[in-house]
Amino acid sequence: MALNKQPYRGTRDFFPKDKRVRDYLFGIMTKTAESFGYESYDGPLLEEVELYKAKSGEELINEQIYSFTDRGERFVAIRPEMTPTLARMVSQIHRESAKPLRWFSIPNLMRYEKPQRGRVREHWQLNCDVFGCPGRLGEIEILQVAIELLENFGANPTHFEILINDRAIVDAVFKTMMNSTSEQSHRLYKIVDRAKKVSAEALQKMISEVGLTIDSEKILLNYLNLSNFEDVSHFLQNNNLNEEAFLFENFITLAKKANIERYLKYDPTIVRGLDYYTGIVFEIYDKHPENRRALCGGGAYANLLQIFDEDPLPGVGFGLGDVTLKDFLEVHKLLPNLETPSNDVYLTFQEDEGLDVTLELAKILRANQLKVITNFESLKFKKVFPAAEKKGAKFVTLIGSEELSNNQIQLKNLHTKEQHTLSLKNLDEIIKIIKA
Ligand code: HAM
Repeated sequence: MALNKQPYRGTRDFFPKDKRVRDYLFGIMTKTAESFGYESYDGPLLEEVELYKAKSGEELINEQIYSFTDRGERFVAIRPEMTPTLARMVSQIHRESAKPLRWFSIPNLMRYEKPQRGRVREHWQLNCDVFGCPGRLGEIEILQVAIELLENFGANPTHFEILINDRAIVDAVFKTMMNSTSEQSHRLYKIVDRAKKVSAEALQKMISEVGLTIDSEKILLNYLNLSNFEDVSHFLQNNNLNEEAFLFENFITLAKKANIERYLKYDPTIVRGLDYYTGIVFEIYDKHPENRRALCGGGAYANLLQIFDEDPLPGVGFGLGDVTLKDFLEVHKLLPNLETPSNDVYLTFQEDEGLDVTLELAKILRANQLKVITNFESLKFKKVFPAAEKKGAKFVTLIGSEELSNNQIQLKNLHTKEQHTLSLKNLDEIIKIIKA
């Protein structure tokens, strides 16, 4: 029986036209991260499962991880996220490193999920993380990086919003205000996470199963009704959570200073499924009605290094997926047309003797940082332009018998249709025209 030509379910083949899109996305990701001084890093594809068990959360471990026992009886997983690898790497070097550490990476990750729009089994994810920032400035910077990234793709506040919360607030509501046990808090996190996705009756049913007092249930429902930063401040102050109120207001003040507040929207149901977050948690949501989903998620984690017996070193970061980003750009018509490749010049000749000239010219042009395609055999005049267009060339050369005898080329600009007859002795002029 013939083998299946399709890639493994939920993974993608990147044909050149798809790879061009990926390269475009990664190019802007890299440029943006580097513009904030983030340094590129990478880690292994496989990690011991223990690394994820320590902090990643039940859903990832029980339902999504690709794991197997290797030939040496080690229980390993294909990385489903980058943060544990990053924390492991930072734990090796943080003592002797100047802070803050600003790092980024674009790893491929695998999660066993039901493939659907925005969800696949192998995706690439831009990770930007910063360690060892004073106060709340790391959180602000990380949000700035994410915002500037999307702005660099042409997006603005009409296209996306950042739904944000603070786990310190959620913890204080559960523990201090509601007196819930850690087991109850654990269940409450899951309920809050699902609050907007289920009906009011289903939500009430889930809450009543936790075994809270009537007063605690009321507090929870009041908390779930908070919808803006002022509400949150009043709620915290009215309930004597003064430290949480102070820290949160400090965050909002800084967000205003950094001019990112216009993208932020308080959402009490944003808690994030990963267990390591301790401070702000956020998700960037597409505002387009046909694509209401998260394209990025992140938050602050104060204690992740402790799993390696290291002192706590606060970190904050985000992961932004390539699939969700592409859907976002497509739905808002922000993705340029990358159907055809892009090359500077296509060198063709119409007489066999033109090959030598062409090869020599190609070498010189490439040495001048131009993208040059050569035709391997003489090409009939009428075929030149359709072929050059397919190759996405801006210029094309024609070398016929007359050009050969005069040591010249015809150089045609395929956009403006302008044509020049140029001497091969005047290479600078040829290069200048192509680069203009
Ligand atoms: P996450 O929310 O699991 O966070 O993933 C971040 C983003 O990756 C999502 O918003 C989505 O765009 C994309 N993504 C996740 N799973 C899939 C999938 N199956 N298919 C397509 N795209 C997907 C994390 O992974 C954290 N480690 C991020 C982080 C970095 N937090 C701090 N630093």
